[in-house]
Amino acid sequence: MCGIVAYVGPKQAYPILIKGLYRLEYRGYDSAGIAILNGDIKLYKTKGKVLELENFVKDKDVEGTIGIAHTRWATHGEPNDANAHPHFSNSKKLAIIHNGIIENYATLREELLTRGYVFRSNTDTEVLVHLIEDIRINEKVDLVKAVQLALNQVIGAYAIVIISKEDPDLLIAARKGSPLVIGIGENETFVASDATPIVEYTKNVVYLNDEEIAIIRRGEKLKIKTIKDINKTPYIHKLEVNLSAIEKGGFDHFMLKEIYEQPRSIGDCMRGRLNTEQGIVSLGGILDYVERIKNAERIIIIACGTSWHAGLVGEYLFEELARIPVEVEYASEFRYRNPVIRENDVVIAISQSGETADTLAAIELAKSKGATIIGICNVVGSSIPRTTHAGSYTHAGPEIGVASTKAFTAQVTILTLMALMIADKKGSISKSRYHQIINELEMIPSKVEKTLKVNDEIIRIAKLFKDSRNFLYLGRGLNFPVALEGALKLKEISYIHAEGYPAAEMKHGPIALIDEEMPVVVIATNQGVYEKIISNIEEVKARKGKIIAIVTEGDKSVRNIADYVIEIPDTDELLVPLLATIPLQLLSYHIAVLRGCNIDQPRNLAKSVTVE
Ligand code: G6P
Repeated sequence: MCGIVAYVGPKQAYPILIKGLYRLEYRGYDSAGIAILNGDIKLYKTKGKVLELENFVKDKDVEGTIGIAHTRWATHGEPNDANAHPHFSNSKKLAIIHNGIIENYATLREELLTRGYVFRSNTDTEVLVHLIEDIRINEKVDLVKAVQLALNQVIGAYAIVIISKEDPDLLIAARKGSPLVIGIGENETFVASDATPIVEYTKNVVYLNDEEIAIIRRGEKLKIKTIKDINKTPYIHKLEVNLSAIEKGGFDHFMLKEIYEQPRSIGDCMRGRLNTEQGIVSLGGILDYVERIKNAERIIIIACGTSWHAGLVGEYLFEELARIPVEVEYASEFRYRNPVIRENDVVIAISQSGETADTLAAIELAKSKGATIIGICNVVGSSIPRTTHAGSYTHAGPEIGVASTKAFTAQVTILTLMALMIADKKGSISKSRYHQIINELEMIPSKVEKTLKVNDEIIRIAKLFKDSRNFLYLGRGLNFPVALEGALKLKEISYIHAEGYPAAEMKHGPIALIDEEMPVVVIATNQGVYEKIISNIEEVKARKGKIIAIVTEGDKSVRNIADYVIEIPDTDELLVPLLATIPLQLLSYHIAVLRGCNIDQPRNLAKSVTVE
């Protein structure tokens, strides 16, 4: 969603803010703005990317040591200069940046209109800054109190930062439902939507909780109060992220860097959790909940987007290994359909960002019905791990490219470890099968490394199909979610229409689309339903479709009938998604590059969707 960064300290704010915006641009990139306080509030904002903002302010006065900045992903009001943040209050004494949605903005706006407030934008954010100003003046209270009172009237989600001309050493930040991290440096303080703009200055951070307000005054210690005026102690956490993890490191795009990081990220995900010599799989974060999971009547996996696809892989793994029935739900559907949730259900919530609004709301619903909630998240300290009963971090490192790659394979890795751990404890897997899988799992990072060697072959195929208007992706069993994920990746970054289907289901509809123009990507590795998938390929060939097949090294049967063949190393059937996904990520990446698309910031998308 939107990116927020703010600074107060001895240094010039502008260079820190603009660099912070570049680091946060993956969160939203339709407009950007900055406000610096130095006597007056100097506010500059413009439609477009951060680069456009930087060009726009080149000859402007950006002197000052306190300021706020924002990069936007539009919710209320189209992306234009007026709707860009920051927003001034009527008197121009206050400026605000905001991430989230004020749901009762229309009522508040009407009331403010009758009181003579003039609106310069169509945003819900402007309503909030006027409301704060109105309360401050009419109730004759200081700014902190006015923010508290205003936020008590607000329904919805927010992460905000405010500066005031009348109190030039003060930054006020508050959150509900949208993340905010406060970086504590030497006599300087940073506020941001995530740690990426902060990490190069300090490793000491405080995560703001819902309905908390941070009062950040130059030269003073951070104070935190709730919107109900209860004092809170700020707890300092140590960031473990390094600067190199959030830079491109020689790659053209973050997405490519993140694809190539997968041997490492999968390895990091398993580190300390998988010990093949002793035959142990142990996820420390769920140890206290193993009995609960083992005895669960049902597991419900909730997630959105790519994480939902990982959940589908998890369904196969848990059912196959732990013999527990699994349902996989879109969080957005689950939360609004009065689902049957029982106390001995275990809910697994999967999220890269740990901030997805629908997933958070679904968790709250399941929690209120007594279910045990286990989180699988990538961003340490984010909202989901803080609201779940237990969970495991994926440790994939920061994922900056909007299209998720390494987070997906890390989620699948955790699900594999979790299913194995539970199966072992439950006795639903034979010892020999258990050892067979964990030994194979240990080899996955090196096999991913080997899989990445298909890159040149993929570039050749991408050149042939870059102008296709549609793609079909087919897979069966565990490779069905892989097909869905492959199609999603292509859609997201190349804007080519793509659909993923269970291969056998193709004849119930998509087969009507197949002609000589239609590329069909089939994941046809040599396990389980191999013979069946060969029949599905024949069905496509009979209608002149072009087959791009992902096969197991040394495969002959598919090679004879497919138009193009990409080999991946042989592995256990249950681990194939960890390898088969890689060529599909590369295919969508290269097609998008050849089409001149913006890889890391595809149109209309946001990395972390903190609104429903
Ligand atoms: C957005 C991102 C996707 C991601 C989805 C769920 O749509 O663009 O890449 O899969 O949100 O996000 P989460 O952080 O919960 O995994």
